[in-house]
Amino acid sequence: MQIGIIGTGQMGGMLARAFAQTAPDVVYIYNRSRVKAESVAADHTNIVICDQWQSLISRVDTVFLCTKVKDGLAFVQENGGLLRNNQLLVTTISSVDLDHWRTITAATPVKLIPSLTQTVARGVILLSYPRQMPQESSIALENRLGQIGQPCVVDEGQVRVCSDIASCGPAFLSTICQGWAQAAAQTGVVDRLTADKLIRDMLVGLAGLLEAGMSFDDVIRRIRVPGGVTERGIESMEDAPQRLFARLHAETTHFSSHGAHSSLPDSLSSSRA
Ligand SMILES: NC(=O)c1ccc[n+]([C@@H]2O[C@H](COP(=O)([O-])OP(=O)(O)OC[C@H]3O[C@@H](n4cnc5c(N)ncnc54)[C@H](OP(=O)(O)O)[C@@H]3O)[C@@H](O)[C@H]2O)c1
Repeated sequence: MQIGIIGTGQMGGMLARAFAQTAPDVVYIYNRSRVKAESVAADHTNIVICDQWQSLISRVDTVFLCTKVKDGLAFVQENGGLLRNNQLLVTTISSVDLDHWRTITAATPVKLIPSLTQTVARGVILLSYPRQMPQESSIALENRLGQIGQPCVVDEGQVRVCSDIASCGPAFLSTICQGWAQAAAQTGVVDRLTADKLIRDMLVGLAGLLEAGMSFDDVIRRIRVPGGVTERGIESMEDAPQRLFARLHAETTHFSSHGAHSSLPDSLSSSRA
């Protein structure tokens, strides 16, 4: 698979480095401001900067479009017609309508939601395909993505909630961990740095257990001794975790469909109570 990446900011830059680190093949990149492309290519001899997007699309079979929404939509409107029907147009813009893109480009559009965890070649990469996705293309794409993470195919209607978990999830859990460290420091028996380090090392250990095949249930069962302090702590949470994430999913779904300046109406936020 010959890969070209248009837009090498946070996500495009991360994907370019991840692809370059996991295979010797050249990864072509193009960014609106060249300086960002140069910093991405700096440590990788197999990342090649194109001076124009036209030269990138002429060299690859899979174009990753990793711009912000407005720039990506403008790019496809203006240039989608120049892509070929044997190319994939994979975009990290989660709100695109794949059926609509089918009408403005001959390339097969695919939605891809990466996660910061691909920096370490781990974590979930969500994929959503249009109708009539050629099977050989999906196999080739998933094989290549499997080298930088865990591809997971979802329907377009599932993208928002699945992205909350797979892509935003590391930031959500990190926010919870910060709150936990702050609460631990407020007890006055540990300082914030110690609490941060303990939580971090605990999480790395938990990831190891999950990777070794344990389920969340296994972990809870092995630690929650009946009548013990863990059980007491879990009971103290009541249904707070579920309510917290019900509210979060409602908020992100509403934000995605109504835009940045709109917050969840009270009538839809009963889970806040
Ligand atoms: N950040 C995340 O964790 C995350 C996760 C999943 C999905 N996404 C989605 O991925 C997309 C990219 O996010 P990001 O955080 O990587 O954004 P970003 O850091 O702003 O990167 C976007 C890049 O696109 C470049 N660009 C804009 N228009 C271009 C054009 N016509 N041709 C070439 N390059 C162009 C910009 O160049 P300049 O240097 O000139 O600005 C910038 O480097 C967004 O749609 C976002 O919603 C992000």
